[in-house]
Amino acid sequence: MRRTPLALAAALALAGAAAVPAPNPEGPPPGHTGGFGEPSCLTCHQGSDLNAFGGRVTIEGLPNEYVQGERYLLTVLLEAEETDLAGFQLAARYGTGNEQGRAAGEIHPLNDRVAVTMGTNGVQYVHQTRQGSGMSAPDSTSWSMEWIAPSTGNSVVFHVAANSGNGDNSPLSDLVYTTDVIIDAETPQLGWRILLLSVLPLLLFIALWIWIFRR
Ligand code: HEC
Repeated sequence: MRRTPLALAAALALAGAAAVPAPNPEGPPPGHTGGFGEPSCLTCHQGSDLNAFGGRVTIEGLPNEYVQGERYLLTVLLEAEETDLAGFQLAARYGTGNEQGRAAGEIHPLNDRVAVTMGTNGVQYVHQTRQGSGMSAPDSTSWSMEWIAPSTGNSVVFHVAANSGNGDNSPLSDLVYTTDVIIDAETPQLGWRILLLSVLPLLLFIALWIWIFRR
């Protein structure tokens, strides 16, 4: 429906110049999550303010603190009324440390609704495919993927931008939603405590032993 020359011309005109890269037929161009100073889908899919009333995008399945190297099933959920076609783009990057902004962990699609495009910056951009732009329910749609947590222990920030199109053959009245979630690495505190608790009595015993027998 959207592949009309009019929609294409309008989107390109809105994006401003002939220098705009042609949209990837298999998904949005990399670098449009709205995070780390990136633009969002709003660059081309205009018509409303970002995060306008009536919808939202969320990331389900993220722990408060991730376990290093653990696998997590993540679902991007877009809730928006009167959506005909929808899409998203997500990236997971370090939020702190000297690797800030670099890709954090690995993301793997679980079915043909989702694909990954590697950005020139080395970041994995996960997005919908053509098969994945259809709705899974009347007012909501979702995309699932697996995230393998990194092993450096720095905090990770997820940025997602999602787009809800009302199927009027134009990118002009689309709604764009963004959100971000920051999670920390689980600190191995418990392990240290157990180690300390088991070593401490031993040290005390040795100290006592030395004190008694050196007199
Ligand atoms: C550089 C401009 C541009 C950007 C940025 C862009 N799009 Fe698009 N998008 C288009 C154009 C043009 C079309 C219509 C032509 C087509 O279908 O290929 C389109 C169509 C779509 C469709 C309709 C289904 C389909 O596959 O045709 C979806 C869904 C979509 N975009 C999602 C997104 C999402 C999500 C983002 C942001 C993460 C985004 N787009 C960013 C230009 C863009």
